[in-house]
Amino acid sequence: MIDVHSHILPGIDDGPDTLEETINMLSIASEEGIKVVAATHHFLDDKMSVDSYLKLWKKRMQQVKLTLEKANIDISIVRGAEVMISPSLPMLEGIERLCINGSRYMLIELPMLNIPLYVEEVIYILRLKGIISIIAHPERNKRIVEDPNLLYPLVELGALCQVNTGSITGLYGENVKRCARILIDHNMAHLLGTDAHSTGRRSPRFKEAMAVLYKWTSSPVIDRMLHAIPGAVLKNDFIEVESPVFYRKRRFFSFPRFT
Ligand SMILES: [Fe+2]
Repeated sequence: MIDVHSHILPGIDDGPDTLEETINMLSIASEEGIKVVAATHHFLDDKMSVDSYLKLWKKRMQQVKLTLEKANIDISIVRGAEVMISPSLPMLEGIERLCINGSRYMLIELPMLNIPLYVEEVIYILRLKGIISIIAHPERNKRIVEDPNLLYPLVELGALCQVNTGSITGLYGENVKRCARILIDHNMAHLLGTDAHSTGRRSPRFKEAMAVLYKWTSSPVIDRMLHAIPGAVLKNDFIEVESPVFYRKRRFFSFPRFT
């Protein structure tokens, strides 16, 4: 399996602090059947340059690579970043270098509490520049939890959406879990990621989420989310997805009262 969202390298962001914890996370990932991990650390364009991010990324990767070989863990780590959306993002020098594994696909983070007005425009301009956005864990955004259809125009613009495995298992609560299911049922979720930060609560786990997914949806849908789409991301292949379906809240009939 391929994990397209992980904070696995040590000492870059709020992921692991030590090399030892990174190796322990990779050991868990290996037991979970993960073969490729994209190390997608937080990138904020007002805090760092693309060059400084990649320089640190490569330095940490070198340290991990040496230890990983000795530990005999069979996992590949590929380049990536979790890029916080901002109006200046498309104009940023070398922004395309933050795409996953050198592809055209970039993991884009929305704020947790709102959807800024510039989001559609930024996704559109990135697309014109040849970059396809993968929106990280939209099911955790407060506004999307309240109204999943807010994601509809972004998917129509060509954005892909990555759901966290922890959202499916209920790690972030019932509302987020419910939202994850709505997005999957309405073609607004395309691939999974662990968004792992540690060996604890937010560890790199897939199996439990897969068991839930098999209760929620069909094998072909799961196969696309787990294998075909993330595989195409890594290979920089073109990805064709089903059109999103507008979510309609179920309403119960109410009968007029006669008094
Ligand atoms: Fe993340």
